Amino acid sequence: MAVGVFDSGLGGLTVLDAVVKRLPDVPFVYFGDNAHAPYGVRTPDDIFKLTCAATERLWAEGCDLVILACNTAAAAALHRMQTTWVPPNKRVLGVFVPLIEALTERQWGDNSPPREVAVKHVALFATPATVATRAFQRELAFRAIGVDVEAQPCAGVVDAIEQGDEILAEALVRSHVEALKRRMPDPEAAILGCTHYPLVEKAFSEALGEGVKVYSQANLVAESLADYLQRRPEFVGSGAQSRFLTTGDPKAVSSKATQFMRKQVVFESV
Ligand code: DGL
Repeated sequence: MAVGVFDSGLGGLTVLDAVVKRLPDVPFVYFGDNAHAPYGVRTPDDIFKLTCAATERLWAEGCDLVILACNTAAAAALHRMQTTWVPPNKRVLGVFVPLIEALTERQWGDNSPPREVAVKHVALFATPATVATRAFQRELAFRAIGVDVEAQPCAGVVDAIEQGDEILAEALVRSHVEALKRRMPDPEAAILGCTHYPLVEKAFSEALGEGVKVYSQANLVAESLADYLQRRPEFVGSGAQSRFLTTGDPKAVSSKATQFMRKQVVFESV
């Protein structure tokens, strides 16, 4: 049994860390498409093709269920994958919905009409491609009314993280938060809508200031995956071994992953 976790690069490791803690007996195969990161500046068509190729590789590892631990892929490609490409005996899930359910105080599968929720002013930080899809606003509108969302496309942050340049990534975070605050001075909640951003979460929290609740996806996705596997145990595939695969240079990727995760991570070539 194994479950696949996909990201364009290092960001999905934040989700992997949480799912491994939540489901210690399940082997996970991680796929980082580091050679093609960042996805956030690519076209939806391009993102679709790259994400399908990575998903197929994870299926070949015996992972019938693949988690897209990448908001950009989930926002730009998941719907198309699910409706035109994924065969009935496989599943591909995204990381968006658990986050929106938490923000809108809903349990999984609660499809009741949209209603008022506690938060009214939400700052969304995501890649330019994710912001352009407006997928977050759409999912939110299905569940909540009267929530004002201000989205900030955070150009450059994923690239800086993928280059291992924490100082640049943190400087860019501060400038994106400042830009957002000029348009929405007092957000009550902030969504880190890119799985790379928890790697620089401290910079986000400090720039946002106290009193802003920061939502990031890792633990929410872990809970939701545990729940899913309980309901659909048949989607734990036949794979038996945890592995870290990358399309990039395994040595360089391992060293950056170890730097950001603050523990040793060893990647191999796909
Ligand atoms: N971690 C991806 C996400 O959640 C980053 C996308 C990118 O490569 O730009 O959106």
